[in-house]
Amino acid sequence: MFARRAGWDLEQSDLAARVARRRAAGLPLLDLTESNPTRCVLPAAGERLAAVLAEVARDPRCGVYEPDPRGDITAREAIAAHHAAQGGAVTAASIVLTAGTSEGYAHLFRLLADPGDCVLVPSPSYPLFGLLAELESVEPKPYPLRLRDGRWHIDLDALRAAAPGARALLLVHPNNPTGSLASPDEVTELRRICRTHDLALVCDEVFADYRSPSARAGAPYTLLPQRDEAESGPLVFVLSGASKLLGLPQLKVGWIVVGGPAQLREEALARLDVIADTYLSVSLPAQLALPALLASRAELAGPIAARIEQNRALVERAVAHAAGVELLIAEGGWYAILRLGVDGTGHALDEDALAATLLDGPGVIVQPGWLFDLEPQDESGLPASHLVLSLLPEPHILEEGLGHVLAMIEAAAG
Ligand SMILES: Cc1ncc(COP(=O)(O)O)c(C=O)c1O
Repeated sequence: MFARRAGWDLEQSDLAARVARRRAAGLPLLDLTESNPTRCVLPAAGERLAAVLAEVARDPRCGVYEPDPRGDITAREAIAAHHAAQGGAVTAASIVLTAGTSEGYAHLFRLLADPGDCVLVPSPSYPLFGLLAELESVEPKPYPLRLRDGRWHIDLDALRAAAPGARALLLVHPNNPTGSLASPDEVTELRRICRTHDLALVCDEVFADYRSPSARAGAPYTLLPQRDEAESGPLVFVLSGASKLLGLPQLKVGWIVVGGPAQLREEALARLDVIADTYLSVSLPAQLALPALLASRAELAGPIAARIEQNRALVERAVAHAAGVELLIAEGGWYAILRLGVDGTGHALDEDALAATLLDGPGVIVQPGWLFDLEPQDESGLPASHLVLSLLPEPHILEEGLGHVLAMIEAAAG
């Protein structure tokens, strides 16, 4: 009956089933994976959104349906001004609104790849790539990011080897969950690889505003080309949205900014018009709310950035006093990666077993590193395992949960 594309194993994962059982039994949980800002940051964002939507409801434009496939012009002008202020050469005409960044990926896969074509995706990275690609019958082909001297680097040799025949090169900047940025030299090389192999460069910049003090010098805010680099570079698509930039995932507004050589850019936009026009998926009230919400960016995103900074410092302090665990440097983003040493017999600790023990005992939810394709070894090839924590939970929850995690690691390392 169903397409092979939809032939998923619909069984809950073991960890998800354990969480559901614990919830149903009314047992306490310390969720260190929570990355929904509406559940763990501040009510002020919800209040601001309600006030803006109340104003939008009185806007006469709300009563008229005359959709533009790229989206409402005032919303696109506000987005263009935001990106221009960050150094990108952007006009409202080169922006297409989507119902979230995930839909932006879907539109781009439809635009760039035929069924069976492959797109290059970073590894480790965002676990949803697999599904987003699969739903468009596109193959994600991983290229590795490697830790060297405590920082993540793109394995450019592996990327060059994987590039022939691919349709697009995806980058998440800062990456999820490593928080890593690309150096200026890496950006130059990515642009060259894209030009050489006729790949579009797709850069997910949803976390661009969340940089840590460890961000490497010179890493660009955006991979959109400056005006004078556009003609010599590849076709570029930058993805962003209200979900992370404003901490408002419930608004369901994202966008694609198209940059690069003028002719290719215009051809891409004309084709994106057809794709977007087929769905017209972004609700008009959400679009009309965007200018006022972008104008409130500091008020909306500021508390999230402050929470992340506070929690990162908390994790740094706790890990500095713990045995058998290291905190990997993050240059940005919303996550922390703990790297765990070996057990008494020299083997990597079992990430799933640790996560299950933490849940069944003190009720702590963590994500095993394999979910993000973090390899079970360190940079010198020695066995290691990883746990990924969100930095959004309330600090007292993170502190208590992390205390249990570190005690468990110490006990497991023997
Ligand atoms: C790297 C990355 N891109 C995109 C998204 C999804 O964004 P949206 O809610 O706009 O679809 C996420 C969500 O966590 C993400 O981590």
